[in-house]
Amino acid sequence: MNITFTPYGYNTYKTSATPSFGRSGRNYITQEGLDMSTITCPFRTDLAWLDFADFELENFKDKNKVNIIQFAASDGSEAYTQIMSLLERSNYISTKKFFPIKAYDFDENIVKAAQSGLINLHAVDECDVAENCKNFSRYFFETPQKLHIPGNFCDSIDKCYKTYKVAPALTNKVIFNKGDIFKILPGIEDNSNTVILCRNMLAYFPKQKILDTIKIMNQRLKSGSLVVTGELDTNNVDNYIKQHGFEEIMKHVFRRI
Ligand SMILES: C[S@@+](CC[C@H](N)C(=O)[O-])C[C@H]1O[C@@H](n2cnc3c(N)ncnc32)[C@H](O)[C@@H]1O
Repeated sequence: MNITFTPYGYNTYKTSATPSFGRSGRNYITQEGLDMSTITCPFRTDLAWLDFADFELENFKDKNKVNIIQFAASDGSEAYTQIMSLLERSNYISTKKFFPIKAYDFDENIVKAAQSGLINLHAVDECDVAENCKNFSRYFFETPQKLHIPGNFCDSIDKCYKTYKVAPALTNKVIFNKGDIFKILPGIEDNSNTVILCRNMLAYFPKQKILDTIKIMNQRLKSGSLVVTGELDTNNVDNYIKQHGFEEIMKHVFRRI
């Protein structure tokens, strides 16, 4: 399905979910015994990132500060994608209030990779960045350094990636820390100015845990704040969110009513 975004509204489903190409991916077992993967990539095609940036700018135009909290941040691809999208769509002054993004992941190894300021990109990723941004080299520099992620299963599948240094224009706008959504979410304070990204992660958990988490989002977030999910969340998480006080603005983007 290919439905277009129009300036008159944020109509659903500009892009359909397609498989992602990840250059950094680990499998690990959580304390609860879940088999978890950290696979990700820049401009993952399950979200219309530039349209989403337009929407954020419009939705929060009357706010002085917007708090973007990103759970399941993985190697940093997603935080960088969000920053690039905002920068591509507006100027330094009007995007300043969105930063720094607070980005958390549960997996210590992938957090260390994100904190390194390096990223592994495949030619496909380079194309995706170049397609969405005016200037790839504004954001990523060649480097002789190599980013090694312990247990990176992409090493055994496809070693055709290159390590890049991420430009300060991106690294200065995000803080990566180890963090668990289930512990941090209940303490969030909102003033209708919050964006929570928890993309392609809740779907790994049992139904009751997903529902409890969405009820906390319902309680903590005030009208106008946003929750963003991903393709893995399509069949269960997205439906539960819609049933708990959120309206779908565009595919995988929900606004607290
Ligand atoms: C499939 S990846 C998704 C990465 C990225 N959000 C995306 O959509 O491309 C799932 C990520 O969720 C993280 N994760 C799992 N449980 C978590 C938790 N309780 N709190 C924060 N992150 C968690 C994993 O470590 C992994 O990096």
